[in-house]
Amino acid sequence: METVVSGIRSTGNLHLGNYYGAIQNFVKMQHEYNCYFFIADLHSLTTHPTPANLYNSVKQVLIEYLAAGIDPEKATIYIQSDVPEISELYLYLNMNAYLGELERSTSFKDKVRANPDNVNAGLLTYPVLMAADIIIHKATKVPVGKDQEQHLEMARTFGNRFNRLYNNDYFPEPYAFSYGSNLVKIPGLDGKGKMGKSEGEANAVYLADAPEVIRKKVMRAITDGGPTVENQEKPSEIQNLFNLMKVVSSQDTYDHFNGLYNSMQIRYGDLKKQLAEDMVIATAPIREKINDIANDADYLGRVSRLGAEKARESASKTIREVREIIGFRSF
Ligand code: TYM
Repeated sequence: METVVSGIRSTGNLHLGNYYGAIQNFVKMQHEYNCYFFIADLHSLTTHPTPANLYNSVKQVLIEYLAAGIDPEKATIYIQSDVPEISELYLYLNMNAYLGELERSTSFKDKVRANPDNVNAGLLTYPVLMAADIIIHKATKVPVGKDQEQHLEMARTFGNRFNRLYNNDYFPEPYAFSYGSNLVKIPGLDGKGKMGKSEGEANAVYLADAPEVIRKKVMRAITDGGPTVENQEKPSEIQNLFNLMKVVSSQDTYDHFNGLYNSMQIRYGDLKKQLAEDMVIATAPIREKINDIANDADYLGRVSRLGAEKARESASKTIREVREIIGFRSF
């Protein structure tokens, strides 16, 4: 059975981008593959969270994984820092990761531009840690959104380089995966880029947002003066709303509003109201479970301990073999 690995950084609540780009696939894949889903708390250290923030964010992602339907009996759910073997593999892979290629990574360049005062080595070697996350379990499928595609390419590079260096084919190649033919990119509400935590609060709809909050955020989304000719091409902020509708609403609803747009009869207020209601409905099953799970500290403890144990079993086997391949042998 193929092995699947994916993770989400612990940087706050999960949003619709995380859900449709990643978690929805996690929930489906757990029935078909040997799955490892983790909380990337080491990755979140690049932005220096306080201990309290870190703890709360890790807990929140764990709660939301479970609320979204990831089943700890089916998939291995763990916290990255509970598996020190990942950090060890990261160290080995770093010896064959080069400054030039790391500096060329799009996400590194974006982060440097966004925050020039915090260009730390962890940020630079982020793709190496991500490669270690994936190949520590010898995964071949990695359910992620479109923004992670380049990271997967780098994971293949680092795994292959290790294989070449030691003249073997120890690590298989991991590929980004989505059930649809294309990797998903969920737009934000600001009409510009993707939905994301760092793109601003109002830009993202969180799985834990109350219905009133969702309605408010959607109603505030930017629109224009409306189409001036029939079948006009949609400007990006309008296209984004339609793209969101494609994900959360039915095809009939989408076709209805698309038809109104094309015949210049669209009222954006109606479109946004419908979009907000469909988001409220789409997130309800998750939102309703969040509180119950959050209040069950015993359960959270059990899930994370069981996950850490299972993940370490797999990771320590890899590390034992990697040490042997590298030449760390006992006398
Ligand atoms: P992160 O925490 O930024 O996002 C987690 C997952 O959500 C997806 N995603 C989106 N998908 C579609 N549209 C969006 N607007 C959107 N925003 C986020 C991401 O593609 C991702 O799948 N580096 C990773 C975490 C990570 C990881 C790994 C993933 C660390 N190690 C190993 C896979 C395998 C990250 O920062 O994702």
